[in-house]
Amino acid sequence: MAFSAIAQGETKMSIWGHTADGTAVPIYTLTDGQIEVRVTAYGAHLMSVKAPDRTGKLADVVLGYDTLDTYLIKPNPYIGAIVGRYGNRIAHGKFTLDGKTYQIPLNNGPNALHGGPKGFDEYVWQAKEVPGGVEFTHVSPDGDMGFPGTMSATVRYTLKGSTLHIEYTATTDKATVVNLTNHAYFNLHGDDQGNNLDQKIEIDADRYTPVDATLIPTGELAPVAGTPLDFRKPEVIGARIDANFAQLKIAGGYDHNWVLNGKPGTLHLAAIVTDPVSGRKLTVETTEPGVQFYSGNFLNGSFTGRHGVKYEKHAGFCLETQHFPDSPNHPDFPSTELKPGETMHSTTTFTFGVEK
Ligand code: BGC
Repeated sequence: MAFSAIAQGETKMSIWGHTADGTAVPIYTLTDGQIEVRVTAYGAHLMSVKAPDRTGKLADVVLGYDTLDTYLIKPNPYIGAIVGRYGNRIAHGKFTLDGKTYQIPLNNGPNALHGGPKGFDEYVWQAKEVPGGVEFTHVSPDGDMGFPGTMSATVRYTLKGSTLHIEYTATTDKATVVNLTNHAYFNLHGDDQGNNLDQKIEIDADRYTPVDATLIPTGELAPVAGTPLDFRKPEVIGARIDANFAQLKIAGGYDHNWVLNGKPGTLHLAAIVTDPVSGRKLTVETTEPGVQFYSGNFLNGSFTGRHGVKYEKHAGFCLETQHFPDSPNHPDFPSTELKPGETMHSTTTFTFGVEK
């Protein structure tokens, strides 16, 4: 692979293809220093991040597909998608707001996942270039997937040096719930270099939200201490993934929400991942109260990514910064409610570095 010849601080647009109804789908390429990021208006997906290793060699460190047609196949594992209106699960797809009960169509066993069967990841968002990147806007009508209120959501991707910023906003005209996140799968070896079980992760959380057999939080905030979910010190992802621990058996690996130690609403550390082989290092910071560390347990080779690589179990891990799953049914969790006149703001940053 070539050494970096990437230009500084530029955004370029090209038309990638068209959806079945003829809507043109642009791709934006953001470059700054050695980092190159590609995002598309289709589902506001993060498609690609090229980052150097300790020798300066570039590799794509997020999974993605070559063709728009592959992104259009449904259902899919949300590779790089923006998920909404409600990232992660709502138990039985049901919640009550101001005395009224709402039903989201189920798409994950007995639950609704990532906003229901047709989430924000399946729309072509409006795109506008902004300094350092691009802002995508999507308007979801009142009653879309059963959710109340017309919601206007924006996702702004900007690249500053080696930090990719993802900023989210949402407004509504009726009380509703919102939980937006990005579902990129990372592999710091490179997207075509097998699984990432040998990479080391640290998560800045003393507690997590244990789940039932359908991956819905029980409501408890349990200590990570003494469990294979304790990543307060860096640990190899694969070291304890097969431990005889009920929470790991339920999910087939890691697929849990960690309760971050930092103060929600201010940017704080979520996780740091390092790859001893390449030296690449990913630091994730967020204003969100939680992060879903998902070790790609349900990838099963049925999707083929760039370079013709089949994405098998653990081909990538996700760090989905978020409010806790099923918050609308847990009054004790930080609230995901959004009222008319309010704006939901949330920021997550991904910094790509190297360790010598
Ligand atoms: C969930 C997984 C789910 C995956 C879908 C993650 O956010 O936590 O359980 O399988 O999304 O690709």
